[in-house]
Amino acid sequence: MAQAETEELAKLIMGAALSRSICTVAELGVADLIEQGKPQPIGHLAQEVGAHERSLYRMLRFLASHGLFAEQNDRRFDHTRLSACLRTDAEASYRPAARMMHRMFPAWEGLHHAALTGESGFQGVFQQPLFDYVGANPELAPIFDAAMTAFHGHETGAMLDAYDFDSIGVLADIGGGNGSLIGAVLQRYPQMKGILYDLGHVTGRASESLDGLGLSERCTVVEGNFFESVPAGADAYLFRHIIHDWTDEQSIQILKNCRKVIPTQGNC
Ligand SMILES: C[S@@+](CC[C@H](N)C(=O)[O-])C[C@H]1O[C@@H](n2cnc3c(N)ncnc32)[C@H](O)[C@@H]1O
Repeated sequence: MAQAETEELAKLIMGAALSRSICTVAELGVADLIEQGKPQPIGHLAQEVGAHERSLYRMLRFLASHGLFAEQNDRRFDHTRLSACLRTDAEASYRPAARMMHRMFPAWEGLHHAALTGESGFQGVFQQPLFDYVGANPELAPIFDAAMTAFHGHETGAMLDAYDFDSIGVLADIGGGNGSLIGAVLQRYPQMKGILYDLGHVTGRASESLDGLGLSERCTVVEGNFFESVPAGADAYLFRHIIHDWTDEQSIQILKNCRKVIPTQGNC
């Protein structure tokens, strides 16, 4: 095998080291201690996050070689474009996404089993489905919500620019999560009303965030399970990043429940 292929394969096989290092540093909150243009010494960073200095130093150097954090003289670290996105106060911060993956990483242990059986690797490792696990861990739930904004939030503007929602009086966002999507649509279309539908452990936080946007009068938050039913009364049903979570059979069940309530002229 040529050296180029060996190097490329080695990099890919060891890819988890990079992913894990990003998630660990995000969990520790290292990025929050650095302001762009004000590099901080490794000793200070390690002390503030309670880390072992040499280990953190090696990790930050490794990340710097991949474009996250920039090492300056005297073992000081500054931000790069990428590491700045891990600050908690960055717009649509990526820190929650990395913290979520930090907690869910053990699920990859189930991949081998999933490949052999077709069963969920997550369920095998965590002994419960993903969304039950999120609901059973109140500390994880808000991190999950914010991670969704990090992963998908930037899509909202493009969707609003590309799709004309003008004819829709009531829009239902199924599995609407933290409400940022339906909130943005309702803000763009002031005459429209909304329904946000999600699991019980999510709807409380969705109500709070819609309230914060001043939209609680225009958006009804409904708690339920889309495998059982979907609320009636909307002209259009929006699913964003929902169907990909499920098997074909489960996806058909969700869409059938939507079909039952969608008006003849409705959209999905
Ligand atoms: C991948 S997140 C997507 C969230 C949001 N649509 C977005 O684009 O950011 C999937 C959402 O589906 C919700 N969900 C999962 N299982 C559900 C169920 N059985 N019934 C209703 N909602 C469910 C989750 O709570 C979560 O908010």
